[in-house]
Amino acid sequence: MEWIPAPLPNSIEEGIKENLISWDQLANSHAQGKGSEFYRIDNWLSGETTLAPWEIREIGAISGKTLLHLQCHIGTDTLSWSREGAIVTGLDFSTNSIKEAERFAELMGIRNSRFVISRVQDAVESLDGEKFDVLYTGKGALCWLPDIEEWATVCSKLVKQGGILYLEESTPMFNALTPMKFQKETVFGLKYDLFNKNPVSEIGQGSYADPNWPGKMRIHTWEYTYGGIINALVRNGFRIEHLNERDEVFFNPHPENLVKSRSNYWSLKENSLKFPLSFSIKATRI
Ligand SMILES: C[S@@+](CC[C@H](N)C(=O)[O-])C[C@H]1O[C@@H](n2cnc3c(N)ncnc32)[C@H](O)[C@@H]1O
Repeated sequence: MEWIPAPLPNSIEEGIKENLISWDQLANSHAQGKGSEFYRIDNWLSGETTLAPWEIREIGAISGKTLLHLQCHIGTDTLSWSREGAIVTGLDFSTNSIKEAERFAELMGIRNSRFVISRVQDAVESLDGEKFDVLYTGKGALCWLPDIEEWATVCSKLVKQGGILYLEESTPMFNALTPMKFQKETVFGLKYDLFNKNPVSEIGQGSYADPNWPGKMRIHTWEYTYGGIINALVRNGFRIEHLNERDEVFFNPHPENLVKSRSNYWSLKENSLKFPLSFSIKATRI
């Protein structure tokens, strides 16, 4: 089934509640590692990291540091950071995701990890005001948040002075562009208005990790822009260290146009016109 436009939610609150229903359904399917190679659960349990080499390189020395992972889903990235030596806390609003993350931590014998059920919006209260050395987030996280300014304000309260925020995300262009036929050629054309403040509401079936997953969902996502993210971080006490763009991305919504570039990453086919697919931001809390 195609993803088709759905009515907008009556309120942001309704949109977030519907998203939570979808994520709770997806968590168990993703934790089984079914479908595409996406979560590579068996490989991961046997020691493979889900982190890209540049994430490990760019975040810098992590051993012994406290790391908060916002929107941690089933904990694959969170526990990969634990294997790199961080003392990890994962936070997500989906109870089923957190249950799976806790199950994985137990299976892997990682005792100094903690998982918390909370909305990002409530994270400061849910974590009793604790501040962390590193805040890590992204890989399909920001699009679920209706207000990037609010996100940056929350982040600023969760990072110690001198600590860092590290974000790995798909680019606004990659989210908004979709393959279209033009004079017998396939070109990428705009699907969404990047200045749209309303959510993009859609009904569909399947998941980015498992296209054959039978569940039907109504989801609401919000566009973000580089300016929106960077200005919100700067306004909330962060100094931007870098913004690096890449021609690889951590999911594959266009299987006819993307090819696997490494485990958990895809890039545009050779001979395509290239554009940035993902980016990372590192920022210091001043
Ligand atoms: C694509 S996943 C995050 C990516 C993660 N790196 C992964 O793939 O394992 C998005 C996560 O955001 C969570 N989420 C969405 N909206 C949220 C909110 N308002 N507060 C907290 N978590 C939220 C979902 O439950 C889901 O687990």
